[in-house]
Order: sequence, then structure tokens, then C-alpha cells
Amino acid sequence: MYFDTHAHLDDGQFSPDRDELISSFKKSGVTRVLNASSDMDSCLETVRLCKKYDFIYGAVGIHPEAADCFCEEDLKKIEELSREKNIVAIGEVGLDYYWDDVPREVQKNVFRKQAALAERLCLPLVVHDREAHRDTLEILKEFPSLRVVYHCFSGSAEYARELTKRGYYFSFGGAVTFKNARHSHEVLLSVPHDRIMLETDCPYMAPVPYRGKRNHPGYIPHIAAKIAELWNVTPEDVGKITTENALEFFNIKE
Ligand code: NI
Repeated sequence: MYFDTHAHLDDGQFSPDRDELISSFKKSGVTRVLNASSDMDSCLETVRLCKKYDFIYGAVGIHPEAADCFCEEDLKKIEELSREKNIVAIGEVGLDYYWDDVPREVQKNVFRKQAALAERLCLPLVVHDREAHRDTLEILKEFPSLRVVYHCFSGSAEYARELTKRGYYFSFGGAVTFKNARHSHEVLLSVPHDRIMLETDCPYMAPVPYRGKRNHPGYIPHIAAKIAELWNVTPEDVGKITTENALEFFNIKE
């Protein structure tokens, strides 16, 4: 059994067949999915999916690429939505200096406010850090009691070990199956297994052999198989370990 801890099932690419697709995940052994929000509309859709399906969990928050639309009122709405059924985290939030569409100061401000909210609400934070390692960590250090997962982690093994000391978690997706995945393999081999979770980040980042196609949680076994190879265990072991980690991290008691 697998837990996809980072999906975007609210994405428009799923509009034609969303419900059909969601009911097919269990056939692939994917028994839980966490939907990460990107903007206010996406938060509402995440809440709707969580109400409809018991096995879908959600994170509510504003992605750095949508940070320029953020207003103070949104923070109150995110807090309200965080009390809805199966909402277990704030996210995805963070900094993206790769696209750099939104001024960095705006991104930092929106990230900081949502990190503060997560700390106050005692909810874990799902973090997006793309080419912004230093500034991301600097802001997270302002909130020492926060529980943090770096999704689609792209840093070095050395940086991962530094974050591990802070108690942080990492989730890995389709990129681990790509040819140029040396960095993420080093991280997977140097961080304790009890800090690792699985994700798809669907509809993006489909694993090999579906690279470039629309991704979905049913492809999680391909990611687990690659990690199993690295860890020298079975894919089922990877499923069990990473699911336990996710239930613990997101404080899910069923
Ligand atoms: Ni994402």
C-alpha cells in the first residue's frame, strides 16, 4: 500500500476524468493521497475532494508562483479551511527562484506568513524550494517548532543531512527514475529511511516510462520500485515505510 503525499488532483488536466481516475488508484495499491493546493481556488477544490473521498487528505496554502495575488484576507480563509475534514497541513508554500515570475520579497513575505500560521495552528508545512535553498532555510529557522517536509527535494546530500538534523522530512517523486537523478539518489542513500515519503506532484513529473505524459497517483509503484532498488528492499517495504512516515508526519490517525 502506498501514500502519494503530494498530488494536484484539482489541476485542470484532470477535469475530463477526475472521479474515474480517483476510483482507479486502489488497483495500483495507492490507498491514500494528499492533495497540495496552489492558490485560493485550488484550496477550495482540495477541501471539496477531501469531503468527497475519505482517503484523500489535503494541504491548504498559496504556492510561491501565485504569491502576487495574496491578500491578508486569504490568510484568514486558509485558517478556516484548515479546520475542514481531512485537511492535515499548510501547503504548498515556499520560494521559487527558477521561474522568478513573482518578486522575491513578495514570495518571502507570503511564505513567512503561512509558516507562522502553520506554527500557530500546530500543522505541518509542505515546502516548495526551487533554487532558493538559502532563503528557504533562513525563513524556516524563524519557526523552530515547525514540522517541515521538502517536496520534490532537489538539494545535495550534505544539505539534506543539515535539514535532517532539524527534524525535517523529504518526499521524492518521478524525478528519481530519470537518468540524471544522481543527486536525489545520494540523498535517498544518506538520509534515514524514516524521513522519506513518496509523491507524484501529478499532473507533472511522471516517472519513467511515462515521462512527459500526464502523471497521476497510480504511477507511485514505479517510484517505489526505484527507491526499493536503491535501498535493496522490496517495493512493498518502501510502501510500508513511507506510508508509516507520512501517517506520523501528518498526524493522521485512522
Ligand atoms: Ni506541487
